[in-house]
Amino acid sequence: MDHVRLPDVALAVHTRGSGPPLLLLHAFPLDHSMWAGQDALADRFRLIVPDQRGFGRSHGPAPVSIAQLADDAVAVLDALQVAEPAVVCGLSMGGYVAQHLAVRHPARVRAVILADTRLEADTPEARAGRGELAAKVERLGAGVLAAAMLPNLLARSEAARGSPGRPAIEASLERTIRETPVATITAALAALGARPDMVEPMSRITLPVLLVVGEEDAITPPTCMERARAVLRRSRLLVMPRCGHLAPLEDPTTFNAAVAAFLQEVASDGAAQAAGDR
Ligand code: MLT
Repeated sequence: MDHVRLPDVALAVHTRGSGPPLLLLHAFPLDHSMWAGQDALADRFRLIVPDQRGFGRSHGPAPVSIAQLADDAVAVLDALQVAEPAVVCGLSMGGYVAQHLAVRHPARVRAVILADTRLEADTPEARAGRGELAAKVERLGAGVLAAAMLPNLLARSEAARGSPGRPAIEASLERTIRETPVATITAALAALGARPDMVEPMSRITLPVLLVVGEEDAITPPTCMERARAVLRRSRLLVMPRCGHLAPLEDPTTFNAAVAAFLQEVASDGAAQAAGDR
């Protein structure tokens, strides 16, 4: 892990492998470690996995907006001298960041993978709920957030709860949430609540998009991704059985196979287009 130093923040960035760049953007309130199951993709991609500002081992001020996190991600690509467009993959909050990146910096993006996220802004009720949660965290600490979120992050069916890796995943998620600074949690909740609706801007992008969602996702259920599928011009949707809100962590084998197949197709399309242009 290295730190990428930007004017006001030092972002911890984990890189592995070589090949086309694949940027992995984590959910709230997690860090790069939620992508541990994607290490296997390093045999064919250059994985770039930041701890976004305020989270994990990054140092500096908490985030003020999702757009700022998207601009940070571009600064990371610049610092790593990634000149070719990257595949940008984000989960939940990371998915909001990936959408902003695709809309604000389309030339930097080869394809988009959106996992367990949504295009729509918060409803007024959801925004108010975030305000209440932030006030509680401010009073009582990050443990409140861990208690509120942990029951909703992973699939709850018996088959999923009985899987052998489950206790270690639960323990690691709890540790990550409890270690997140209160200032990051409250600032990120405000940024999440204030994020704009991306339905219209995303309906205009022509990049290929893979949508992935856990069948048992209790935070952004499959209907969110079905609505996204209906508005995106070039997208396909994979619903992953026995997975909740963190599908890539809960079933890395299925997720990685879908990503590899999607990116193989994206590469073949690019090659065919280049041959046609000659
Ligand atoms: C996340 O998993 O990143 C958050 O649940 C996103 C959100 O609260 O909208």
